[in-house]
Amino acid sequence: MKLTLKIKRQDKFETFEIPYKEGMTLLDALNYIKEYIDPSLSYRQFCRAGICGTCALNVNGFPKLVCKEQALPYALDESPVILEPLNNADVIKDLVVDTSTIAKRIKTYKVWINPLPENISIEQELSKKIEEASDCILCYACQSFCPEVLDRDYAGPLFFAKLYKLFIDPRDEEHNIRLLEAKENLILHCLSCNKCNNACPKEVKPATLIRELLDS
Ligand code: SF4
Ligand code: SF4
Ligand code: FES
Repeated sequence: MKLTLKIKRQDKFETFEIPYKEGMTLLDALNYIKEYIDPSLSYRQFCRAGICGTCALNVNGFPKLVCKEQALPYALDESPVILEPLNNADVIKDLVVDTSTIAKRIKTYKVWINPLPENISIEQELSKKIEEASDCILCYACQSFCPEVLDRDYAGPLFFAKLYKLFIDPRDEEHNIRLLEAKENLILHCLSCNKCNNACPKEVKPATLIRELLDS
């Protein structure tokens, strides 16, 4: 059985036909092309286990982690699988995009824990909520699928998914200040369209978290 991939490279698509192997993922298919056909093909990967968030690509127009995407349905379908870089980011080369804008924003707003000097206990239910909100792997899928992100004033769902965890965590000394800043400057562009919820491979549900932030 063959697998056909149409890969966006700069301003054109290139088609590759490779042999399908049992258990192959789309990332394995890219690795096959790089190893045996064209070593210049560029894309990102690291963990190969859906944990690091680096391998997200548009697969037939929808953002997915290609290390978790089985190639079998595409091979059976016999039509080419179309791989493109994620939207809402400049392309560096082939399938690699520049996500430094959101990284800078996270840095500017210091979206990390600023711990209280003393230890405090947390209810089990809240602890579970914080844990769930920590599942974001920074894969950029939600950010790429959000219709408002091209408006550069809008921080986007990835940013708020990170911010939300700090807001609900009482161990963060600055959680109220951060929320106020975010609400005043960044959150109002959300259309509540839920596209980011659908795109997230980790079920973080950024749109739902944004609604909670707005209601708080
Ligand atoms: S719900 Fe808001 S953040 Fe999510 S995709 Fe829609 S506009 Fe973007
Ligand atoms: S919220 Fe989901 S889609 Fe967005 S970056 Fe985090 S894991 Fe990826
Ligand atoms: S390679 Fe890490 S999530 Fe796919």
